[in-house]
Amino acid sequence: AAQPPLDIVIFGGAGDLSWRKLLPALYMAHLHGRLATDCRIIGVGRNEWSREQYVAFIDQTSRAYVEAHAMQAEAWQGFLQRLDFVSLDATAPEGYAELAAHCQPGSIKVFYLATAPSLFSQIAAQLDQAGLIDAQCRVVLEKPLGHDLPSARAINEAVARHFREGQIYRIDHYLGKETVQNLMVLRFGNAIFEPLWRAPYIKSVQITAAETVGVGTRAGFYDHTGAMRDMVQNHLLQLLCIVAMEAPISLDPDDVRDEKLKVLRSLRKMSLSDIVRDTVRGQYTEGVVNGEAAKGYLQEADVPENSRTETFVAIRAQINNARWAGVPFFLRTGKRMQNRHSEIIIEFSEPPFSIFAEQAAASTPNRLIITLQPDESIQMQMMAKEPGSGMKMRPVNLNLDLQSVFTERRAEAYERLLIDVIKGRLTHFMRRDELEAAWKWADPIIEGWKQLADRPKSYPAGSWGPAASSALVARENAVWAEAQ
Ligand code: BG6
Repeated sequence: AAQPPLDIVIFGGAGDLSWRKLLPALYMAHLHGRLATDCRIIGVGRNEWSREQYVAFIDQTSRAYVEAHAMQAEAWQGFLQRLDFVSLDATAPEGYAELAAHCQPGSIKVFYLATAPSLFSQIAAQLDQAGLIDAQCRVVLEKPLGHDLPSARAINEAVARHFREGQIYRIDHYLGKETVQNLMVLRFGNAIFEPLWRAPYIKSVQITAAETVGVGTRAGFYDHTGAMRDMVQNHLLQLLCIVAMEAPISLDPDDVRDEKLKVLRSLRKMSLSDIVRDTVRGQYTEGVVNGEAAKGYLQEADVPENSRTETFVAIRAQINNARWAGVPFFLRTGKRMQNRHSEIIIEFSEPPFSIFAEQAAASTPNRLIITLQPDESIQMQMMAKEPGSGMKMRPVNLNLDLQSVFTERRAEAYERLLIDVIKGRLTHFMRRDELEAAWKWADPIIEGWKQLADRPKSYPAGSWGPAASSALVARENAVWAEAQ
């Protein structure tokens, strides 16, 4: 039988995420023949726009977010042909009938909710009321999924009244990054790492997501969110899960997510004294990033003058289970850092006995370095003998240069995940209980910071964060990547 047509309906279709990420990702899928001919993309928003106005808007805004070499005039025009727009107030029933009229008869529908999460429950209810929900449709929920555990639960419950869990795609775009998916293959598709992938052979794990951008025009959202909710509760914890989970019994969505859930549930709950000792909050002050002067956070547009919102977080997390007991997991993220750099570093323990004692200073531990951004790579740092007489050692890199091994095109995270939604593959999306377990760990830390009522430590834009962040890892004889 012929495949039914596909309608991708994007709530928040005129929003920032849509024109920066979603439409460019869908264009790339279109360009590479990954969208069926009868796939339509319906933007939904409050603007009183015609289809033509929406097309003109996307034509103007999204262009700059498509890589220059991929911007092919004919393909782009063909892509714009797929677009449609429905003007609707998400909270009022009227517009939904019109939305239904814009969908193709008998289509499979993907509802992408890229609005404020406070609208999710109303949108789900209205879609249901309008008869738009059937067994085949899917809903994608963008982050932030709530503000804390109670609000996340409320959203999940509300959405569950209208969609089965198997229809709900909670997106975390870090799970769509090629290197993150590769980490699973590295761990479970090879025999050499897994036996050593535990205490005491691993000394520490570092996960960094550093950005050079500041808060930009998003202060309205960011100032009541902060780095903990924006990056740590979701992206960094998901990375931690992939590093730390046991081998799932298969790649089926629930098998993978069961294992990730166990990791989240094993995270040490932090007491107030843990929070004082093992977390660092920072806020950027003015400085220089990439050679350009940058304002401090408090000087950015729409930031309240006394804001205590953190733009940087470093945490020593701990996983209380048999595999990881005693191994610190250092998590770190920040805006306005020196470089855009995201990576995972697995630091192995020192050899139990060194016959090279004289050269102790030259010895560095083995490190597996998985770089997500700006370039994707996997490197293994080893000790090797320097050529010449004597036995001098030097660290060298075993370099798994995936970009040169694989000449295939690498899709961006959003494209890969959108294709997963279209194909009905849930493995790289978060399940309800995972999300709630992540909030259960994050909430007490945010609450603790509030109780402590001190200001985040300042760090100049263009640096690697407050000094306290280096001190946090130094306590365990570790250093952050940039100082290695
Ligand atoms: C988003 C955050 O989820 O991730 C942003 O809301 C952040 O604040 C972005 O800039 C980072 O994503 P990436 O893929 O650029 O590392």
